[in-house]
Amino acid sequence: MTNGLDDILKSRKDEHIYIVLENNVETKRSTWLENIILIHKSLPEIDLSAIDLRATLFGREFSAPVLIEAMTGGTELGARINKNLASVAQEYNIPMGLGSQRAGLRNKDTTWTYRIARETAPDAFLIGNIGAPQLRELRPRDIDELVSMIEADALAIHLNALQEVVQWEGDTNYSGVLSKIREITDYLDIPVLIKETGAGISKETARSVIEAGVRGIDVAGVGGTSWSAVEYYRAIRRNHEGKSNLGKLYWDWGIPTAASILEVKTAVHQSGVRERVYIIGSGGIRTGLDAAKSIVLGADFIGMAKPFLKPAIEGVKAIKKFLDLFLDELKTALFLTGSKNISELRSSEFVILSPLKDWIEQRKLII
Ligand SMILES: Cc1cc2nc3c(=O)[nH]c(=O)nc-3n(C[C@H](O)[C@H](O)[C@H](O)COP(=O)(O)O)c2cc1C
Repeated sequence: MTNGLDDILKSRKDEHIYIVLENNVETKRSTWLENIILIHKSLPEIDLSAIDLRATLFGREFSAPVLIEAMTGGTELGARINKNLASVAQEYNIPMGLGSQRAGLRNKDTTWTYRIARETAPDAFLIGNIGAPQLRELRPRDIDELVSMIEADALAIHLNALQEVVQWEGDTNYSGVLSKIREITDYLDIPVLIKETGAGISKETARSVIEAGVRGIDVAGVGGTSWSAVEYYRAIRRNHEGKSNLGKLYWDWGIPTAASILEVKTAVHQSGVRERVYIIGSGGIRTGLDAAKSIVLGADFIGMAKPFLKPAIEGVKAIKKFLDLFLDELKTALFLTGSKNISELRSSEFVILSPLKDWIEQRKLII
């Protein structure tokens, strides 16, 4: 059975995809990764062909530290995207996030558009997804359903306060979310992670979600897709002047990705929790060099959404072409820093320039 909200949810998902494909929805501010200079090693003393990109996330080993970030589901186009991405996640042994499963929970006719990822990728590490404002309406059996829909290996809860406030029909009640996160981490056996959607996570927010039991934080900082921009375009189409003005004003709002990785790293170091908390660097990661810098700063993994979108619609070949180039770029950074593997890259030397340097000082962050 469908009703008005289900129709909105369905058409909104595809509208988001078309807006991202057809407009410039990236922030005008950068990730600040350009303020990290990796120190070049003229004598790397390693063989490029022997470089090993394997990395661990939530205790599982992957062939490279690259996560396909949450994007879609709920529509036929979403199903096609999920199927193609899942096929690459399976072949390359990299993890993949599904888009918000809210539509799948509300309308059973759409669950196949998520499930197709599991059918295509029986062995892949798949991450379920639900929005923070929707947590209030979830009952335990809905949480079970989120997981069973795709046989999820982890569940991501996305924080998108910026998007909801600019969205003309957004859900702006964020009260009580933290205690719901706590309930879900207590309830589930699989790891729960928190992800932003392009505005970055501060050390204060990171600390509170770590205390609530999350095992991973995906920073999704400023420098890539701006959800204020996406909702700006939706407001323009509807002549919604208030929301389009708001979207323009807050286009670049948030914490740049490089700063957010350090914010979260500081919170993880200071938290004193026994269980490992993984950090995913995302938001505007566009090259393998961005990935290398994020890892040097403290990310265990990096994630990308928008760069996968167009190739995912084109097909598996296009996704593989993009990914192969990206992994070559990452390997090049390892080679030029004399790092045989990801853990050696993590201890490479680097210099931090202002304004990131000023941010670190004012916010008393750990490098
Ligand atoms: C078309 C599209 C749809 C998205 N849908 C979701 C979603 O359903 N759930 C979610 O957590 N994030 C969603 N995101 C946000 C991404 O997962 C990611 O955090 C954000 O786009 C920043 O990464 P990027 O700069 O590499 O695109 C979406 C992103 C795009 C481009």
